[in-house]
Amino acid sequence: MPQPVILAIDQGTSSSRAMLFSRDGELLAQAQQELNCHFPQSGWVEQDAELIWLSVLAVCRDVLAQAVALDLEVTGIGISNQRETTVLWHQQSGDVLAPAIVWQDRRTADYCQQLQIHAPLVRKKTGLELDPYFSASKIRWLLDHQPEVKQALDDQQLAFGTIDSFLLWRLTGGKVHATDTSNASRTLLLNLQSLSWDTELLQLFDIPLEMLPQVKQSADDFGRCDAKWFGTELPILALIGDQQAAAIGQGCVSSGSLKSTYGTGCFALLNTGCQPLISEQRLLCTVASTVQGQTQYALEGAIFVAGAAVKWLRDQLGIIQCASETEALAASLPDNGGVYLVPAFTGLAAPYWRSDVKASLSGLSLGSGKAHLARAVLEAVVYQTSDLLQAMQADGASISQLQIDGGMVANNWFCQHLADVLNLTVLRPAVADTSAYGAALLAGVQAGWYGSLAETALVQKAVTCFTPAMAASERAMLLEDWRHAVHKVLS
Ligand code: G3P
Repeated sequence: MPQPVILAIDQGTSSSRAMLFSRDGELLAQAQQELNCHFPQSGWVEQDAELIWLSVLAVCRDVLAQAVALDLEVTGIGISNQRETTVLWHQQSGDVLAPAIVWQDRRTADYCQQLQIHAPLVRKKTGLELDPYFSASKIRWLLDHQPEVKQALDDQQLAFGTIDSFLLWRLTGGKVHATDTSNASRTLLLNLQSLSWDTELLQLFDIPLEMLPQVKQSADDFGRCDAKWFGTELPILALIGDQQAAAIGQGCVSSGSLKSTYGTGCFALLNTGCQPLISEQRLLCTVASTVQGQTQYALEGAIFVAGAAVKWLRDQLGIIQCASETEALAASLPDNGGVYLVPAFTGLAAPYWRSDVKASLSGLSLGSGKAHLARAVLEAVVYQTSDLLQAMQADGASISQLQIDGGMVANNWFCQHLADVLNLTVLRPAVADTSAYGAALLAGVQAGWYGSLAETALVQKAVTCFTPAMAASERAMLLEDWRHAVHKVLS
C-alpha cells in the first residue's frame, strides 16, 4: 500500500518549494527553485507572476515524480504563500496583466500618506496600518497605471488575487477564484469582524467588488487541480499566508503562543485566540486562520528586511558567496566594533511605520571589514525582533519564550544572539520549513487526518534550545546603541 502524504507548496518571495509530508509530520521529499525580484525604480519591488507559476509547477512535478519512486500517494495539496503581493489577471484568457507588485514595494507611499486621515477607521476595521505594504493601494496603482488592467475592468474580465488566489486559479484551470481569511486579512479590504470584503473600504480605495476572490476558510474545499498539470485531479485542501502557516507549523495554535519567522522579512505572531485585539503599539491585528468554523487572530510584528539583508551582502556587495558564511564571520569578532545597520531598505515597518526612510550604516572605521558588515546585518534583525517583542509586551502580552524558524535560523550565532538580547529561551524546531509544514497540517485537518487544529500541535518535533548567557549591562548597552542608530534614521 502506498503511504499517504500531503503535497505542501510554499511560495515565498525568494523561492518556491514543494514538500511531501506524512501524517506523522515526516518530510519525505522536497524540491526548490529560487526566485528573483526586480527593482525598476527606487522603492519598487516587482516579480513576474508567470515565473512564479512556472516555478510552482516545476517543483510540484519534481516532488510528484519522487512520490512515484518512493511509493507515496498524494492525498491533497496545502498552499502557503508570500502575502500581500498583488497579481491581476484576465479571467477569460488567464493572462497576467501586469508585473506582480511585491509586498515590499513602496511606490504607493504618497497615496497612502494622502489617505492618512482615514487611518483610524482602517485600523479599526482591518487591524492594519494604512501602509503601502498591503494590497489595496497596489491594486489602486495598477488600476490607474496599466491600460490592459483598465481594459479588462471595463470588459468585466479583471481578477485580483494574492499569490494563493493566483495559484489556485491556475491550478484549477480557471475554475476557482477564492482566497482564505488569513490572506484576505492582509489586503486592507477585509472586515476583521464580519470576515467579508468591506463596502466602505472598497469605496475608500475605489476597488470594484467583482474583481475580488471569494473568501473561504483556511482549511476548506478549494476544488481540484486540472488534470493537465499533474495527470490527476488532486484536491486543494488548504490556503494560508506563510506567516500564519509557520505559526501552525510551530504548534502555536492556542492563545499566548508566539513564533517569529526569519525569511526574506521577519514576522513575529502572537496568537490572541478568538477575538481580534487592536494594538495600541502599531502592531498588526491579523487573522491567524479559520478552521472548522473557528477563526483565531494574532498580533503581528512585521520587519520588512531580515534574510533580504543577507542576500544584499551576497548579491549587491559580493562579500559572501552564501548565507551560511555570515555565521563564522560574525563569530570571528569579539564585539560589533560599534557598527550598526538600520536596514530600512524599503522603509521601516512595525512599530515605526515609516515608508519614507532609507537604510543606514553607522560607526564605520578603517578597521571595519566584511565581518563587521555581516555581524551588523545579523544583529539588526535581532534588535528589530527586540523592538517587536517590547511592543507586544506594552500591548499586554506576557512572553516566556520564543519559537523561531525560517532560513536564517540555521545560523547558530544568530539564534544565540537572539536569546542573549531578548533575554528569553529561544526554541528552534528540527524542521525549519514550518510554513510548508503548517500548510500540510491544515490540509491534513481538511483531509480528516487530524480531528482539529488543536490536534495538529501534537504532531510536533524535537527542538534545539538556546538560553540567554549575556550580561545585563552588555544587553542594555547594545540596545541603547541600536535605539540611537534608529533615532538617527527616523529624524
Ligand atoms: O508579508 C510578507 C511575507 O508573507 C513574506 O514572507 O517568507 O517571503 O519572507 P517571506
